[in-house]
Amino acid sequence: MTAPETIQVETRGRVGWITLDRPEALNALNAQIMREVVAAATAFDADPAIGAIVLTGSAKAFAAGADIKEMEAKTSVDWLVDDPFGEWPRFAAIRTPVIAAVSGYALGGGCELAMMCDLIVAADSARFGQPEVNLGVLPGIGGTQRLVRAIGYYKAADMVLTGRLISAEDAERAGLVSRVVPADDLLDEVATIAEGIAAKSLPSLYAAKAALDAALETSLAEGLRFERHAFAAQFDTHDQKEGMAAFREKRDPDFTHR
Ligand code: CAA
Repeated sequence: MTAPETIQVETRGRVGWITLDRPEALNALNAQIMREVVAAATAFDADPAIGAIVLTGSAKAFAAGADIKEMEAKTSVDWLVDDPFGEWPRFAAIRTPVIAAVSGYALGGGCELAMMCDLIVAADSARFGQPEVNLGVLPGIGGTQRLVRAIGYYKAADMVLTGRLISAEDAERAGLVSRVVPADDLLDEVATIAEGIAAKSLPSLYAAKAALDAALETSLAEGLRFERHAFAAQFDTHDQKEGMAAFREKRDPDFTHR
């Protein structure tokens, strides 16, 4: 595999870090960055030595959207036949918990990419928006669907139909952001959260993420059935016996991630 050119990839302990790195375009999401992010994330996802993934950008921009210059000349047939955003669902489908560490602009596809992650931790400088209506289009990588599920119809419609940007504080109040932290502390705070998650038992993390996903995709009855079976399945893992024994013996668990 050739080295990525639009992202930086690093492993720190059990955490895989992906940093979007197209500063000349405020990390606009072109075809290459999509391929490289998806390849890095799926490689981390296939590695049981990784228990959490962090996706971040620069201080100025998490990502300022899909690459407008790359999209401008496309036709509807190009979209229907070539499916230029077709790899993003593979990112949304990975099993490992993903934390978006958002500083600066998370606009259009950038906001949509953050919403494919499990936690969104925002610097107090972060700005979120779905400004596609300003370009004569609409969100195209899940924005209308995930935003409504995240913050409800009326807050989502306010962002999607006006194109206005909202602050990290407003995004947190609306439920789009998990936590807001001072900009200077963002990466340290996210590293602490990611290391904490990655130290948990991998089978329980995979199952918990799948059950959370089920909450967004199924009826309550189906979701509860899924959760019941996922919960039962954990009782065949080493780590369930270890976790509960450690509680009883008043010590830290020694998870094997099996
Ligand atoms: N695509 C391509 N290039 C982009 C870009 C994007 N989404 N966003 C910024 N850039 C480029 C600019 O063209 C500029 O490059 P040049 O110097 O070569 O012209 C460089 O990044 C720096 O940007 P600005 O000079 O505009 O920086 P600024 O600080 O003045 O403004 C900004 C920052 C408000 C984020 C502004 O860049 C902006 O409005 N960007 C576009 C935001 C947007 O509309 N996003 C939605 C894209 S469509 C989409 O995402 C569809 C979808 O749902 C999939």
